[in-house]
Amino acid sequence: MRFEREAIVSIADTILDRAEVRFPLPLSPAVPKIRKLYRSATQRQWNPEFDIDWASFDHGRYSASQLIAARLRWSKTAWGEYGAISESPALQIRFSQERREPDLCLFFAIRTQEESRHAEAAYRMAEVLGGYFAEPQGAVLADGNAGGAPKPAEKDVKTALYSHGVRRMAFDPAYSTESIIASLVCVSEEVAFDQFKFLVEVTTDPVANKLLAMILRDEARHCAFGWDYLEHRIPLMSRAEIEAVKQGIETFVDTVEFNGYHHAWLKPPSADSRAEVAAMETTAQAGLGASTEALEKPILIDSMAKIRKRMRDWGFTLKTFDHPKLGKC
Ligand SMILES: [Fe+2]
Ligand SMILES: [Fe+2]
Repeated sequence: MRFEREAIVSIADTILDRAEVRFPLPLSPAVPKIRKLYRSATQRQWNPEFDIDWASFDHGRYSASQLIAARLRWSKTAWGEYGAISESPALQIRFSQERREPDLCLFFAIRTQEESRHAEAAYRMAEVLGGYFAEPQGAVLADGNAGGAPKPAEKDVKTALYSHGVRRMAFDPAYSTESIIASLVCVSEEVAFDQFKFLVEVTTDPVANKLLAMILRDEARHCAFGWDYLEHRIPLMSRAEIEAVKQGIETFVDTVEFNGYHHAWLKPPSADSRAEVAAMETTAQAGLGASTEALEKPILIDSMAKIRKRMRDWGFTLKTFDHPKLGKC
């Protein structure tokens, strides 16, 4: 199973090629736990413009290099959240085409709003710090040279690491919906949740801390969705379908998650990845919402152990992963 596909046009039969059957349209709850998450999401909306006191940000507490590093850190979050804005409706189309339980579409309609809110809030944070970067930056950040001219990162870094191919997967019948949700939500969002939770504990800047806490609140529901849905589906799936979920997760971890999707220090070494790691460390030291390899490593190992343990209830044990930075985990 490969998550990076060059182009959807190369796939002969996609979900979009199939006729949509809308009726009968059952809307009564089919997965009560997900209907409950949908209700909870509708009641817990927030507004990035007004719910964070941007005007209280105190620039005087930080050096020029700390501010520029944090601009990159928060711009990077905006790029990732922006990717989620399109992955959500892509999955919604799939849920409709497959006539999945209606709770999924209802919940994902709100999830899309939440991801857009996260992108906007991260953008606003970068702007408050001095300016949003519209694309990955190279050496200027590694040098900590706030006055230097921005130098865009290498093209492959931009394309490979800020789009993990979920939109394309969502339309490709070769990947089961359960496999996509297990990888994207039960692994990737779960890993991100644990990382964000730690950041809320260590981020001393009040504005950055509030922003992290608001995003974390939404992400808790996103993670719960994945587990609740797979726990509903697994008992109804065949052994072969469950095995495909396992293999999909393992490929996702090897090719996306452990390739630096959430952790800059896991990216393959390059001038750009070193620049990003340096920016994260500077941001972490300033308390502006980042962490370091040394602090994040045990959290990530623990997240993977927790995920593996919970998935044993699905009837399989994920393989042991091996990464030069993490060892066997
Ligand atoms: Fe998000
Ligand atoms: Fe999310």
